[in-house]
Amino acid sequence: MAIPQHTIDQILDRTDIVELINQRVKLKKTGRTYSGCCPFHQEKTPSFHVYRDKAYYHCFGCQANGNAIKFLMEIDNRPFIDVMKDLAQHAGIELPKDNFAAKSATYKRQPKQAKPAPSSSDKTNNKTNEHVPSNDPPENQAFEAQNYVEQSHVEPSYVDQGYDQYQPDAFFYPDDAHFDFHQQGFHEQPQEASLYDLLEAVANYYQQQLKQAPHAQNYFQNRGLSQDTLDNWRLGYAPTDWQHLEQAFPQDIEGLKLVGLIRESDQGRQFNLLRDRVIFPIRDAKGRVVGFGGRALNDEIKPKYINSPDSEIFHKNQLLYGLYEGRKAKAEQWLMVEGYMDVIALHQSGIHGAVATLGTASNAEHLNILFRQNNSLTLAFDGDSAGQKAAWRTLEIALPLLEDGRQLHFFILPDQHDPDSLIQSIGQEAFLEKLGQSPLLSDFLYAQLTQRFDITSPEGKGQVMGELRQLSQQLPNGSYKYLLSQSFKDRLGFGRRNAEANSNDLNLSFGGIDHSQLLMVLLLHFPKLYKAFETLRALLPEQSLIKHFLDTLDRIEEQLPQDVEACRAFVLGACSHLHPQLLPLLNKIQLSQLGMDHPEDINKHAEDLYHRLQVEFLRKKLKQPASIKEMHNLKQQLNDAYKQLSRSEIRVEY
Ligand code: UTP
Ligand code: MN
Repeated sequence: MAIPQHTIDQILDRTDIVELINQRVKLKKTGRTYSGCCPFHQEKTPSFHVYRDKAYYHCFGCQANGNAIKFLMEIDNRPFIDVMKDLAQHAGIELPKDNFAAKSATYKRQPKQAKPAPSSSDKTNNKTNEHVPSNDPPENQAFEAQNYVEQSHVEPSYVDQGYDQYQPDAFFYPDDAHFDFHQQGFHEQPQEASLYDLLEAVANYYQQQLKQAPHAQNYFQNRGLSQDTLDNWRLGYAPTDWQHLEQAFPQDIEGLKLVGLIRESDQGRQFNLLRDRVIFPIRDAKGRVVGFGGRALNDEIKPKYINSPDSEIFHKNQLLYGLYEGRKAKAEQWLMVEGYMDVIALHQSGIHGAVATLGTASNAEHLNILFRQNNSLTLAFDGDSAGQKAAWRTLEIALPLLEDGRQLHFFILPDQHDPDSLIQSIGQEAFLEKLGQSPLLSDFLYAQLTQRFDITSPEGKGQVMGELRQLSQQLPNGSYKYLLSQSFKDRLGFGRRNAEANSNDLNLSFGGIDHSQLLMVLLLHFPKLYKAFETLRALLPEQSLIKHFLDTLDRIEEQLPQDVEACRAFVLGACSHLHPQLLPLLNKIQLSQLGMDHPEDINKHAEDLYHRLQVEFLRKKLKQPASIKEMHNLKQQLNDAYKQLSRSEIRVEY
């Protein structure tokens, strides 16, 4: 009953979560978010927040959180499908019918004694197998080549076209007029059987066939694969006969047709899709075999790869080769490559997070699957111009997915190499080193755009920024969008004079720098330091920027991502309501100018700053103490703060 992720995303995109929740919970606008009393627990003061741009709700009281779907499921205690129907209707999106027909991924398995049920146009019976020639007739190879030859290897989305016109004329079926299946035991009823079980059996069969095919074993051996690797990936071999599957699985012809492994010509002739090819079983995320790829043993044979077509259980645009195996090996870093052999070779060298699409171009769904494994993801591309094009196309697909905190790296391979050949030639260590140097999307984009225009001229710089603006429209709203354009401006030298002027100001006003501002900049760079400043909040004047800022950090502190960059982006996103005041500060104060650019020193600086701010705010508070008792208390604290400050190792004169 799975609804494709892209449909779910589309529905969520079109659902205004504020409007939806507001029908159940009275929401009040607070800055850029909405808040109200949480419907999932009893409370008097609102700690339930709804974020329209993130399409997300979160209760800071009971930790209930989620998207529109989860909200409806939980508040009404309704099943997923039910909620999806409503949301889809409201969003004006049709849900694929299949998902409600509860397709069972089954077929009719013929009883044991029976011969395969002939289809209306099918004139075969078991005897015909003897008559089928066991070598591909040359005409048919030519036909295959003709169907695939124009396909460039970069966007191999073509691979499944053409089978239907495929007509293997060179072998024939005797028209057995005496065939009478009533005598053959059809009194037994066909049984419902699972396509998954069938493909599992076929995978085993291909694996067994490999053991009897020395030339196929040699092929894998020449490509450097160990026996362990063959076993792990369940690699196999499909024999040459046109109808080996019919022989091995006489009861399962219907199922084999459903998954496209047995095809039928217009004349009703049956033939196997994969013949004399090494076999790559394709497993879904749960490890079930759902399809096969078959590679010719010889590079002269076209097409090089044939994949089984999409079927009820095989959806190429939602599958990644190697995902199941990578997850099983507890991969953390994920790398998208082009081919089966790349995935396997990398895995064999201990790089377990390599995955590939199944002969189709990568799409948003593929990227989303990987982003769900890890916020940081690398895409490998050939170094040639086709590779560059593919990289650019993927970049465009990826932009709308780049929520704050997600990172995309581009691994551009040296000329004439794919990941398989590269790791075989330079070894795992050098490979990992190169991989580690893969530029981030921002750097890749900068390199690409600045190659296209002459950035020594203001016009050229303008063009680069223009292109960037265009592309940025695809980015989700968030701080990444802002940061990207900021970083381009910096690199192109926009506003450099301003920055210099600012830094002069800073020098001139040494001693006059505002500690609160400095703290905010420090925390924007190193949000994890917030904890050290938590107690300061009690001293801060209500309605001050620093108070709003620290309150925001306090709210999100527990959700901060581990990754430093992701953490920064997260904080900027959460503080979007304060951007007008915060962003100019980021431009004005650079930590490097204050000798604070080294993370190693940052704790000492933070401590120093804490005491300075303590002194500053305690003194302010002391001007209007609420009571004598509070005055004593404040004085005591102030004394302590002075003492601490005198011990500070920091000698920067702010
Ligand atoms: P490549 O042609 O780049 O081959 O196809 P490769 O992966 O380097 O293969 P080897 O190393 O020569 O064995 C990359 C991927 O594109 C799909 C396959 O999924 C393949 O793994 N492809 C390629 C096809 O589906 N059909 C083809 O004819 C060629
Ligand atoms: Mn290759």
